[in-house]
Amino acid sequence: MASITVTAPAKLNLTLDVLGRREDGYHEMKMVMQSVSLADQVTLTTGPGEGVELSSNLGFLPVDGRNLAAAAALRLREETGAEWGKLTIELQKRIPVCAGMAGGSSDAAAVLRGLNELLGLGLSSTELAGIGEKVGSDVPYCVMGGTALAQGRGEEITPLPSLPGCWVVLAKPGFPVSTPELFALLDSRRPRCHPDTAGVIRALEEGDLPGVARRIFNVFEEILPFRKRGQVEELKGELLRRGALGAGMSGTGPTVFGLYEREEEGRAAEEELRRLCREVYLVRTL
Ligand code: C5P
Repeated sequence: MASITVTAPAKLNLTLDVLGRREDGYHEMKMVMQSVSLADQVTLTTGPGEGVELSSNLGFLPVDGRNLAAAAALRLREETGAEWGKLTIELQKRIPVCAGMAGGSSDAAAVLRGLNELLGLGLSSTELAGIGEKVGSDVPYCVMGGTALAQGRGEEITPLPSLPGCWVVLAKPGFPVSTPELFALLDSRRPRCHPDTAGVIRALEEGDLPGVARRIFNVFEEILPFRKRGQVEELKGELLRRGALGAGMSGTGPTVFGLYEREEEGRAAEEELRRLCREVYLVRTL
């Protein structure tokens, strides 16, 4: 038996832009991504036998190939011919599910990184990201982590200078979102405004946290159905009133976040947001 535990951090979108629909049905993206300390733990154990067995602390998650963590293991075996006997994947989920924070993709990336180490496969991050791309559009970013520009389907990753360290308050409203549905809505209602991605990159190069924070922008916010958009606006307004340098929605939502320079401000905002929202977290950028 051999075992390894890998941390799978959540991501936020400092910016999210959709440039158009592609011939393959996906959308051309331009996003500045950031890892945060809210993370799942992924434990991989190999032993005698065969197959992949997955379990998690959340009973409603699929445990077969529909779970991206299992899909990543199967894809790695297919691509490399790696042998491991029986693989057990245990997910300790802390990242909210279907929240716009790439929890499933990050678990998949952790499986790829973990198996690479456990089995001594010697694959580079770029090679792991290449396998991850076949599992999901956000997996390559999750393999790399940190502050990065993601383009193409989301799989073309360019590392950026790290966001200056700060505190992040995350608030997840209770309403569900469907990523394919939101992309389809975007096709019928072209967004009027786009993020200043170049400005964010310039601010990152200058180590200018307020300059990044005030440019946080996500095109999906504008196309959310009326009521959901209202909830997102309300949470963002509260984060900003409590001193956030900037606030926005992550991915296709519904999680909303605000950046704070000081821990006390973050804590005060976290407490206040709990009045509006059940799921609230105070975390650090990585
Ligand atoms: O790649 P992934 O399986 O994570 O994508 C989930 C869904 O999100 C796709 O089926 C597609 O509807 C949508 N998507 C898209 N364009 C992207 C990424 C995702 O339209 N760049």
